[in-house]
Amino acid sequence: MNWGPLIAFVLSAFVSASNLTVTVSGPPTLPETASHTLHPSLASFSIETAFFIMYVGNTTSPNILTRDLLQNIKDRIGIPAEIRIGGITADSTFWDPSLEAAIFNFVDNTGALINTTIGWEFWDAARELLPEGTQITVNLNLESLNFTGALAVAESAVQGLPNQVAAFEIGNEPDHYFSFTAKNYSNIWEPWSKNISSALNFTTPKFQLAATADDPLWPYNTIAADAQLDCVSALAAGVDDANTVEWCSEHTYQYSVCDPTRTAIATLPNLVNHTRLAQYLDLWQPRIQSVRKQLGSQAFVIGEYNSVSCSGRDGVSNTFGQALWLLDTIFYAASLNVSRLYLHQGGPLALQSATQLNKGGFSFYDLWYPIDNLNGPVQVFPSYSAYLFVADTIGSSRSLKIANIYPGRQANGSTITTAGGDTSSGQLVIYGFWDESHPTGTNFPTKLALLNLQIYNQTQDEIRPTASFNISSLLSSTNTQISVRRLQAPGADTQLANVTKWAGQTFENGTASGLHVEEKIEGGIVTVEASSAALVFLENDARSVLI
Ligand SMILES: *[C@@H]1O[C@H](CO)[C@@H](O)[C@H](O)[C@H]1NC(C)=O
Ligand SMILES: *[C@@H]1O[C@H](CO)[C@@H](O)[C@H](O)[C@H]1NC(C)=O
Ligand SMILES: *[C@@H]1O[C@H](CO)[C@@H](O)[C@H](O)[C@H]1NC(C)=O
Ligand SMILES: *[C@@H]1O[C@H](CO)[C@@H](O)[C@H](O)[C@H]1NC(C)=O
Ligand SMILES: *[C@@H]1O[C@H](CO)[C@@H](O)[C@H](O)[C@H]1NC(C)=O
Ligand SMILES: *[C@@H]1O[C@H](CO)[C@@H](O)[C@H](O)[C@H]1NC(C)=O
Ligand SMILES: *[C@@H]1O[C@H](CO)[C@@H](O)[C@H](O)[C@H]1NC(C)=O
Ligand SMILES: *[C@@H]1O[C@H](CO)[C@@H](O)[C@H](O)[C@H]1NC(C)=O
Ligand SMILES: *[C@@H]1O[C@H](CO)[C@@H](O)[C@H](O)[C@H]1NC(C)=O
Ligand SMILES: *[C@@H]1O[C@H](CO)[C@@H](O)[C@H](O)[C@H]1NC(C)=O
Ligand SMILES: *[C@@H]1O[C@H](CO)[C@@H](O)[C@H](O)[C@H]1NC(C)=O
Ligand SMILES: *[C@@H]1O[C@H](CO)[C@@H](O)[C@H](O)[C@H]1NC(C)=O
Repeated sequence: MNWGPLIAFVLSAFVSASNLTVTVSGPPTLPETASHTLHPSLASFSIETAFFIMYVGNTTSPNILTRDLLQNIKDRIGIPAEIRIGGITADSTFWDPSLEAAIFNFVDNTGALINTTIGWEFWDAARELLPEGTQITVNLNLESLNFTGALAVAESAVQGLPNQVAAFEIGNEPDHYFSFTAKNYSNIWEPWSKNISSALNFTTPKFQLAATADDPLWPYNTIAADAQLDCVSALAAGVDDANTVEWCSEHTYQYSVCDPTRTAIATLPNLVNHTRLAQYLDLWQPRIQSVRKQLGSQAFVIGEYNSVSCSGRDGVSNTFGQALWLLDTIFYAASLNVSRLYLHQGGPLALQSATQLNKGGFSFYDLWYPIDNLNGPVQVFPSYSAYLFVADTIGSSRSLKIANIYPGRQANGSTITTAGGDTSSGQLVIYGFWDESHPTGTNFPTKLALLNLQIYNQTQDEIRPTASFNISSLLSSTNTQISVRRLQAPGADTQLANVTKWAGQTFENGTASGLHVEEKIEGGIVTVEASSAALVFLENDARSVLI
């Protein structure tokens, strides 16, 4: 195998008047910086506990839109996206076996959601209405400090969801309450996880640790950074002494509208910028590496994430730009060996922060609104199509590895930034996918994802710029035929699913409408318009492997 030095991946990119170009210099072999084998549920969901029933409905009144949207993903991969039921309301959720409704949310007269009660019908809905076989992570209530209450929720979940509970979390974002240190968090978490495991007869580790909110401080090896509560510090404090930790989760929200200072930078151009996104996720590299070393290759997950915390931002996180950000975030995180990412879907939390921009309604970062609400009618957002792009990338393969081949990695492992050699200013991105069980194996990629993040708004009237990606160095011969499926919309600012196309089709009512489009191209040059992305299938000749 040719482990060419990083320099072999030097590419050239330059800006013409407005059209960008990039030439991949190869080699086509699996790069040294490639990931572990991708988990088929790489792109999964987190649904806020208090609003879970609003998303899926209940067994007498199922939500067909949610059902169809989740089924589209399962149909492409063969297994469903995973669902984490959790979030801030999990820490005020209680079990009541006599509750007839699936859920009861106690809302006070100021509109604040005080607590949530769930009963048997809640698990019936999860079992019956999510795609068959969905693996579910259940977030238990830590903040009430009532072990008996947490055990009751865990026990009911195991009974209500036979063979479907993937893991339990104990607490949501515990770094935001009780001034927990890694030590006194572990002193509670460890016995709880141990006692729940023995009460429910678990024979293998069944818990997902941490679920922490704060971004890692950088540099990471300082006193202040070491004092953060996170996966690595909790493991060092002995949280897994009873061998109950299966996976570890941390949350990522690159932007926020929780306060005016952060609101000012939560803009569409900042969101749709690979340099910024990669610099943000790079903060987690030391933790991902440490957790994988301690708990195994697939152990690090981003158990809750989205673009803009405190419920998203109108005009930013509900646009097609969010679809491009989402695609780049999922693939970049995968290239850093994050096993799965659970995209948070949230509802009305009017009082998350006293200084927040939003005042209730479903979150502006949701992929769809399952019901009519303060922020708009039932609808699908353009960002949903990014999940279809990822699903088609993974497909039925269970042996894919990803590498970020443009702009690539610096020798120290961090991404190549504008200053470090990305001459596209964070606008062009290429990911390669190698399939070890395909005949071309590690010699040629089987797929490429080409992203052109250059902003083009539907409100602009100039000619839409295009980028040309020269990928001929990755083809076994210049006349190799390649197939291209495109993710497109009238502009980055588009908010409508009925004009957002994945492979020619729109999904505004949950099912595909329009004809499936896949272009056949020869010659190794693929053009991708500004604010769009393409999934390229390379039909490299397996025989060239023998040359
Ligand atoms: C950019 O490319 C488009 C076609 O892809 C072309 O119409 C336009 O003239 C190009 N713009 C420049 C400045 O070269
Ligand atoms: C990801 O995992 C692979 C295989 O374990 C390893 O070779 C690679 O260095 C890891 N990447 C990062 C960024 O840690
Ligand atoms: C979406 O539209 C298709 C075709 O018009 C229809 O068969 C399907 O039932 C619709 N789905 C929903 C959820 O309305
Ligand atoms: C199911 O949902 C319907 C419609 O929202 C509601 O009328 C009904 O009470 C719910 N049933 C349960 C058991 O929650
Ligand atoms: C929820 O909060 C209300 C108001 O404080 C309280 O009366 C009720 O007992 C709480 N429910 C549970 C299950 O703790
Ligand atoms: C703890 O939870 C149990 C089971 O739900 C409940 O019976 C008990 O009253 C709770 N204790 C407190 C102090 O709230
Ligand atoms: C954990 O320790 C910190 C620092 O000593 C303290 O401020 C905090 O109250 C403790 N939290 C708990 C739940 O014991
Ligand atoms: C866990 O079990 C141990 C041993 O039975 C017991 O001493 C301890 O009090 C339990 N802890 C909790 C939180 O229930
Ligand atoms: C755990 O095993 C014990 C002993 O075999 C049994 O009595 C109990 O019902 C089991 N509990 C659960 C939740 O399966
Ligand atoms: C993307 O972000 C980087 C880092 O902040 C910045 O240097 C670059 O100019 C941005 N790119 C664009 C197109 O604005
Ligand atoms: C596109 O629109 C967004 C707001 O929706 C704005 O922030 C951005 O500057 C616009 N970009 C261009 C190139 O017009
Ligand atoms: C898309 O939906 C919007 C809002 O419902 C509507 O105004 C528009 O005509 C639709 N466009 C297409 C192409 O169906």
